[in-house]
Amino acid sequence: MLVEPLNPVINPGLEGVIAAQTRLSSVDGQAGELIIAGFPLEELAERATFEETVYLLWYDTLPTAAQLESFQAALAAYRSLSETALTLLRGAAQARVPVMDALRMAASTLSLQPSSTLGADSGQNALAVVAAFPTIVAAYWRLLTGQEPIPPRSDLSHATNYLYMLTGQVPSPERVRGLETYLNTVVDHGLNASTFAARVIIATQSDMISAIVGAIGALKGPLHGGAPGPALDMVFEIGQADQAEAYLRAKLERGERLMGFGHRIYKVRDPRAEVLSAAAERFYQADGNLALYELAKAVEHTAVDLLAEFKPGRKLQTNVEFYTALLLHGLDLPTELFTPTFAIGRVGGWTAHCFEQQALGRLIRPQSVYAGPKDRQWLTVEWR
Ligand code: ACO
Repeated sequence: MLVEPLNPVINPGLEGVIAAQTRLSSVDGQAGELIIAGFPLEELAERATFEETVYLLWYDTLPTAAQLESFQAALAAYRSLSETALTLLRGAAQARVPVMDALRMAASTLSLQPSSTLGADSGQNALAVVAAFPTIVAAYWRLLTGQEPIPPRSDLSHATNYLYMLTGQVPSPERVRGLETYLNTVVDHGLNASTFAARVIIATQSDMISAIVGAIGALKGPLHGGAPGPALDMVFEIGQADQAEAYLRAKLERGERLMGFGHRIYKVRDPRAEVLSAAAERFYQADGNLALYELAKAVEHTAVDLLAEFKPGRKLQTNVEFYTALLLHGLDLPTELFTPTFAIGRVGGWTAHCFEQQALGRLIRPQSVYAGPKDRQWLTVEWR
């Protein structure tokens, strides 16, 4: 016999529940506005280096030239991976583990650093995770594709060094700018699922590495950070603009979701899609081939129209993932690296939220309503 819940007000997705006050970012889903530590996204994303953005989130101010220089050096000092991490990545590559799982496993090895034990300096741990993410992802990708990892260079910027470790080539300034715009765009986004996971973990007075490892697990799912790969696959499968309607209509008739569309908060076009679409257009224009960009635009328009037809009133618009796919593809990143590259950006926000939650010092502990029976009687195994 099931017992009826006593309290019928259950909110399984926590929509509308405000569980934190933050200075890090403001998401206005009705106006389509994203503020990062006081800066409208459009003001910041195209201008800041990733190091400047992380500094801004951690210290609530832009760094002076001297502060920036020492922050860059502090991060660069944490780029190398331990032998243990590299051995683990080699084993993971042999087992062909997905990149996000390899990132999660290797991020755990950052606990091997002497500073990382429970109660230790979170600042050192935060530097270590932000600095090491690109090295882990690049090293793992090279191992997975039968190549030896390329050690990080401390004389390159965070974004430059990531692209360098993937290919062995120092990338052009346009490529670095494209990547930095992307990393800045996704660095923080209110109390999204992975950030919430990190805050829940750190709020128990656990350590920074544990919080970040939990956040990686949350980000990996297709309803959060796992959508850009499938979004790009969809554009490629469509192939030409006049096929978009038939393809997307068939998908919706089968009850499938269109990846890169819809958002829990945004009911208008995601402002990050706007920034990334502009960055992608500039990038493809500079490359002299706008064909894929134009196809993606056509797919976007058709998808938004069809979603309005199939899901009237749901206000399903383009989300960040759609143009993420296009921009990262333009940077020659394989689809398998899209979500890990999202993590390389978002870890800046996760760490900042951990600092904020630590300063607050409040355990996060919601409640559940019991919906099961209360009168069961024990049966020994032979009677079940
Ligand atoms: N395609 C088709 N239908 C959709 C889509 C979509 N992309 N998104 C939502 N819907 C429909 C749902 O089926 C549902 O329909 P119903 O009311 O008839 O049952 C309705 O719209 C509302 O959907 P919910 O799932 O309740 O909305 P929620 O706020 O939980 O979902 C989410 C947000 C998960 C992002 C959803 O829009 C989705 O699955 N999108 C596709 C995946 C994607 O792009 N993920 C990346 C998100 S961006 C990020 O996290 C960084």
